[in-house]
Amino acid sequence: MSKSPITVSVTGAAGQIGYSLLFRIASGALFGPDQPVKLRLIEIPDEKAMNALKGVCMELDDCAFPLLHSITPTSDLNEGFSGTNWAILVGSVPRKAGMERKDLLSINGKIFTGQGQAIARNAASDVRVLVVGNPCNTNCLIAMNSAPEVPSNRWFAMTRLDENRAKSQLATKAGVLASSVSNLAIWGNHSATQYPDFFNARIDGKPATEVISDHDWLKGDFIKTVQQRGAAIIAARGLSSAASAANAACDTVRSVSQGTANGDWTSVAVCSDGSYGIEKGLIFSFPVRTSAQGWEIVQGVPVNEFSQAKIKATEDELKEERAAVRELGLIK
Ligand code: NAD
Ligand code: LMR
Repeated sequence: MSKSPITVSVTGAAGQIGYSLLFRIASGALFGPDQPVKLRLIEIPDEKAMNALKGVCMELDDCAFPLLHSITPTSDLNEGFSGTNWAILVGSVPRKAGMERKDLLSINGKIFTGQGQAIARNAASDVRVLVVGNPCNTNCLIAMNSAPEVPSNRWFAMTRLDENRAKSQLATKAGVLASSVSNLAIWGNHSATQYPDFFNARIDGKPATEVISDHDWLKGDFIKTVQQRGAAIIAARGLSSAASAANAACDTVRSVSQGTANGDWTSVAVCSDGSYGIEKGLIFSFPVRTSAQGWEIVQGVPVNEFSQAKIKATEDELKEERAAVRELGLIK
């Protein structure tokens, strides 16, 4: 028997990331080759943006994807989130060279109050939300706080791009394929304070610190490269990462809905329950294990003194961002 379609809402659907993401959702790369989808595509009520979205919809039509059951382009949030099972919140302004992601809070933060409320009013009862728009942890905090009806375990912010970047850096240094690297935890904020935890990472099942003997590189250039990768791409391309971001959004949704491999985990920012001493309620990236039944923060991952200091720095930054959005009246 064929499966009933799932509804996926994507904001910022006419943007750069949208252009990479939508075709993968519609082709079945996200939810599988037997899972039909209905797309609800949300843009701002601006002629240029809506025209661009019209063009994207025409291209989706022209792919004749067998799994794509419907496309609803809209600038109305109620229509856009109606009956949605997965809401992927991309729509927002990207940073420019010289900015930190948190500099976007006053521009982008307000988008997420209205979207959170509209999700609570209109989405399916099993809705899950992935926030990609920056600064994604705190935007997710704003949306979650605007939708108290939606349980806190349904809210995610994307740090999988950082995980993928870190795996790629370790693999290159070790001279192996990226698929050899596992158990790579990104702790904290999707920002320059994030901590890519090489101490617990494994390469072909062995500790990364055994395979890579250059520990000065691990503690220095490796961390810095991952923390600064978004800025490096903006400097090189003149635009922020898009294809790799869309790819990471697909990886995140797949990991959350289909489960992580035995013994491995994925990195995703979730609402802290106080694990590892992180203040409850912050949207913080942890190593997370998932299955068809749900997800849990992996407990008992060793945190040494070096890691503890890094984790504290990124938690402090998230507390500062939370104070800033309180000041702006975006959360209580
Ligand atoms: P873009 O400028 O190409 O596209 C953004 C789109 O969002 C535009 O079409 C714009 O009209 C639309 N938009 C703006 N406000 C909106 C709203 N209120 N509702 C619906 N749509 C709205 O930008 P992009 O390159 O696609 O990046 C989008 C966001 O994703 C940026 O904030 C960027 O910094 C972020 N990002 C996050 C990660 C991550 O790892 N978390 C990675 C890459 C980019
Ligand atoms: C990224 O990490 O590439 C994105 O968050 C875009 C940015 O501003 O760095």
